[in-house]
Amino acid sequence: MSHSSAPVPLTSAAGSPLKGTIRVPGDKSISHRSLMFGALAVGRTTVQGLLESEDVLATADAMRAVGAKIEKQDDGSYTVDGIGLGSLLEPEGVVDFGNAGTGVRLTMGIFGSHNIAATFVGDASLSKRPMGRVLDPLREMGTNVIARDGDRLPASIRGAEQALPITYRVPMPSAQVKSAVLLAGLNAPGVTTVIEPIATRDHTEKMLKGFGADISVSLNEAGERVIKLTGQPELKPQDIDVPADPSSAAFPIVAALIVPGSDFTIENVLLHEQSTGIITTLIEMGGDIELLNKRSAGGEEVADIRVKHSTLKGITVPAKRAPSMIDEYPVLAIAAAFAEGDTFMPGLEELRVKESDRLAAVARGLEVNGIPCIETEDTLTVTGGAADIGGGTVVTHLDHRIAMSFLILGIAAHKPVTVDDGAVIATSFPTFTSLFEKLGAKISANSSEAA
Ligand code: S3P
Repeated sequence: MSHSSAPVPLTSAAGSPLKGTIRVPGDKSISHRSLMFGALAVGRTTVQGLLESEDVLATADAMRAVGAKIEKQDDGSYTVDGIGLGSLLEPEGVVDFGNAGTGVRLTMGIFGSHNIAATFVGDASLSKRPMGRVLDPLREMGTNVIARDGDRLPASIRGAEQALPITYRVPMPSAQVKSAVLLAGLNAPGVTTVIEPIATRDHTEKMLKGFGADISVSLNEAGERVIKLTGQPELKPQDIDVPADPSSAAFPIVAALIVPGSDFTIENVLLHEQSTGIITTLIEMGGDIELLNKRSAGGEEVADIRVKHSTLKGITVPAKRAPSMIDEYPVLAIAAAFAEGDTFMPGLEELRVKESDRLAAVARGLEVNGIPCIETEDTLTVTGGAADIGGGTVVTHLDHRIAMSFLILGIAAHKPVTVDDGAVIATSFPTFTSLFEKLGAKISANSSEAA
């Protein structure tokens, strides 16, 4: 499932105010995990609202490769007939994760404690990203690894015959690393302990509990999260209703804030504490964002989000908020371009190892569109309010969030903005273009048309 389609340049241009009521697709983190945990359970899991993006479909293929039966039903839901923890089959071919960091890292954790061999590959972006952060703890648990220099893909593993439960302190704020160790711990006899100095999204902990695993979370004296998982449970199938992805919602939210006259509502968005830092930040910048009809759905809080065009001001975004909005800095930088004064974003070192070096990609994209910014090793400062912005072509580096963020820039800028490849958007938000067209935005594969 490598991202093999030819690049599709897209151009966006200023149009009418954005109006209406929309739904963005299902949460990516929950979608991946629904398929994985469903595959490890015994019996049939059903998933409503699965994100049908290239990343998530790669995870479905990987779970099929080890024996799970995953099918789309007539009503649009998916069923996952699990094969059961400890019973995974050896994949016959290579396991291709395309662009998907979450998919490959969590799956390495699952396979790493099963006595099977597997080879993981990905696209040019995924093949540059560090896998050592996951492979190192797996080696401690007994997984054999052969990987390209620097622990990059392609990588082959042979899972441990009898994995060792370990105690692991996660060295960087990463839900993917935490989850990979916990998922390997699922098939290790005894208690696997993960210590998380900085809290990251806890979908793995919450969902594993829902699937019947014995997992507990406490705080130690230093205030660090300590997660204990007892291995080799029998996981029970679940009925999952995936709420809308707050990371995807961030694009229309920022668009509404910066396009004059806009006012619309995004329905049923996940309000997960460790993934909604962007909403807190945009409200601090003066964004008119209302969380309506807050309710609980499947153990998570959701709400409808009403957002209106607003006068924004630059702020300092606390570094400690970064894990809760790590995927949203590119689109925050676009909001910052329309704010009065400087927006200072510290604590961004993890942005260097995302689908692209996002810090550099954002800074170059801002520069070619006439937006002043200063990039350091781990900070970005954007100065808002420049005259005559837009007109540039942005290099996306196979990064869906770079492509979407700069298309949002174009719908509010003085001149159209082109991204060199919009096809990558399919990795996380396949309906992005059609949804924005529905709201009244101008996004086109033909630059002269959009302009
Ligand atoms: C995710 C964790 C984050 C995030 C990614 C989804 C997850 O990555 O960037 O899009 O589902 O666990 P890190 O944990 O590496 O920061």
